[in-house]
Order: sequence, then C-alpha cells, then structure tokens
Amino acid sequence: MSIKWGKQITLILLLLLCLLMTINQPVYASESSNNEAIAAKIFEINCAGCHMNGSNIIRRGKNLKINALKKYHMDSIAAITEIVTNGKNNMSAYKDKLTATEIQNVAEYVLKQAENNWK
Ligand code: HEC
Repeated sequence: MSIKWGKQITLILLLLLCLLMTINQPVYASESSNNEAIAAKIFEINCAGCHMNGSNIIRRGKNLKINALKKYHMDSIAAITEIVTNGKNNMSAYKDKLTATEIQNVAEYVLKQAENNWK
C-alpha cells in the first residue's frame, strides 16, 4: 500500500470532524429561527389536520386567522397555550402529547402566522 496508515487516520479524523460539524449546525443557528422551524413541524404533525393554513375544518368560524383569534380572545400566547394544553369541545388536549415548551413554541408560531395572514 502506498498510503501510510498515519495519513489515512488523519483523513478519517478530518472527515469525522466535518461530519460532526454538520450534525451540530442547528445548535449554532439563531435560537428563534430554530424554534420556529421546530414549531412549524409540530404544527404540521399535530394541528394541520384540522387547521391547515390557519383554517378550521370542524368549526369553520373558529379558525386561526387574526380576526377569529381576536373575536374569541385567542390572540395571545397565554390563550393559545391554554387551549392547546387543555383542549376545548372538539379539539383535544395536548398536555400528554407535547411538552410545555413545545406548546409554548407552537402557540408563538400560530400567533406569528396569524399576524402574517398565514403566508
Ligand atoms: C381534531 C381537530 C383539531 C386539531 C387536530 C387541533 N384543533 Fe385547534 N381547534 C379545533 C376546534 C374544533 C376548535 C374550536 C374549539 C371551540 O371553541 O369550540 C379549535 C380551536 C383552536 C383555537 C382557537 C381558535 C379560535 O378562533 O377561537 C386555536 C388557537 C387552536 N385550535 C390551535 C390548535 C393548535 C395549535 C393545534 C395543534 C397543537 C390544534 N389546534 C389542533 C380542532 C382541532
């Protein structure tokens, strides 16, 4: 073999280092944008079934658009956190499915999306 072991090991270590850096990338990304991406995923998995693009397929009026949120006093992190945690009528509670942090993040996401008209 022409390549010596020493060289190969250095190469492997360098490759591993690159790999580790790529894996760790999200940790270095700004926390807010990171949370938002996670919240978007949480919404997609748990909420979009009924609230696709801020709609409400069960009770059409009670959607996640800013006007409806204001009308039903759901236009705050506290109110959204409360309904997601404990549920209401046909919407189930998420306190056993999501952590408090996840609920907080998804509430922030809903409010932000509503303020941006779900674009
Ligand atoms: C099974 C369908 C369903 C799923 C899944 C669901 N919801 Fe709902 N959601 C509803 C219904 C029905 C209401 C209306 C409740 C009421 O006031 O009677 C509602 C109401 C709301 C409201 C208040 C809207 C308003 O205008 O008053 C918010 C905010 C909300 N949901 C957020 C979420 C979030 C965030 C998730 C995911 C964690 C979620 N929902 C998952 C059915 C669902």
